[in-house]
Amino acid sequence: MTDIILMCSPEHYGIKYEINPWMDISIQANHEKAMQQWQALYHILKDDLKVDVRLVEPREDVPDMVFTANAAVMYGKTAVISRFKYPQRQPEEAYFAEWFTANGYDVVTLPDDMAFEGAGDALYLDGVLYAGYVPRTDIASHTYISELLKIPVISMELVNKSFYHVDTCFCPLTDGYLIYHPEAFDAYANQVIESNVPEEKRIVANAEEASYFTCNAVNIGKTVVTNLTTPRFTALLNSKGFDHIQTDLSEYMKAGGAAKCLTLKI
Ligand code: ARG
Repeated sequence: MTDIILMCSPEHYGIKYEINPWMDISIQANHEKAMQQWQALYHILKDDLKVDVRLVEPREDVPDMVFTANAAVMYGKTAVISRFKYPQRQPEEAYFAEWFTANGYDVVTLPDDMAFEGAGDALYLDGVLYAGYVPRTDIASHTYISELLKIPVISMELVNKSFYHVDTCFCPLTDGYLIYHPEAFDAYANQVIESNVPEEKRIVANAEEASYFTCNAVNIGKTVVTNLTTPRFTALLNSKGFDHIQTDLSEYMKAGGAAKCLTLKI
C-alpha cells in the first residue's frame, strides 16, 4: 500500500518567535537553503520512495505550519486536530481542519483547553498510541483520545527540554522496530518501552545522534530518512535490515524540527 504524506511548502517559514529551546530569533533560517532542503526531502519521498505526497497551502501568519506532523493525529480517515499549546501556532488548527475536510477526511476537535500537538506527540506502535506529555501536550488529552478512538494509549513523560515532542526522541518503524533516545524519557516510560519492545528491536540513538534529530525519522517500508547523522547510526540501521537515507535539514533544526516533523502520514 502506498503511503500518503502531507507536507507544507516553507514559503513563509522562519524563526519568528521562541517556543522551544532550539529557537532563537537572532539565528534565522536561510530562506533559500530551507527551500532547497525541503525540496530535497520532498523528492526523496515522492520520487525515490514513491510516496503519494499531498500539499497543504502555506499561510503567511504561521511560520511553523511547515511542520505538518503537528496538524493532527490520524485514525484511519479521521483527523483529530491539534490544540496547540502556544498561541503562535493556534491559527494552524483551522487551516489544517479546512484541508482535511476539503480532502474527504472526518475532522474531530478536542476541548479548547486541552493541549495536544498531534502526531508530533502521539505515534502508533503495534496498534497502541504512544503519547508524550508535559512540554506541549496535556496528559488529559491522552485519556480523552483513548476514549474517543477506543484505542489503547500509553503516556510517556518527556523529561529533557530539548526533546519537547515525542517525535524528537521516539520513532516506531516497520516490523515493530523502534528508534529512540532513552534519556529523553522518565524511568517509568523507559520501563514501559523496555517491556513492550524486545531488545533486538530497540535502536538506541546516543546523545550526539539525538542532538542531530536522528529519532525524528520518516520510515517508508524498510527505508529510514533522517537529517545528517553518524556512520555508527547508519551501520546500526543496516544491521537491523533498514536502508538509511540522510538529507541535510540544518535550517529546520533552528526551529526544533527535522524530517519527521515536516511530514504527516495520512
Ligand atoms: N517550531 C516548532 C514548534 O516548536 C517545531 C515543531 C516540530 N515538530 C515536531 N513534530 N516535533 O512547535
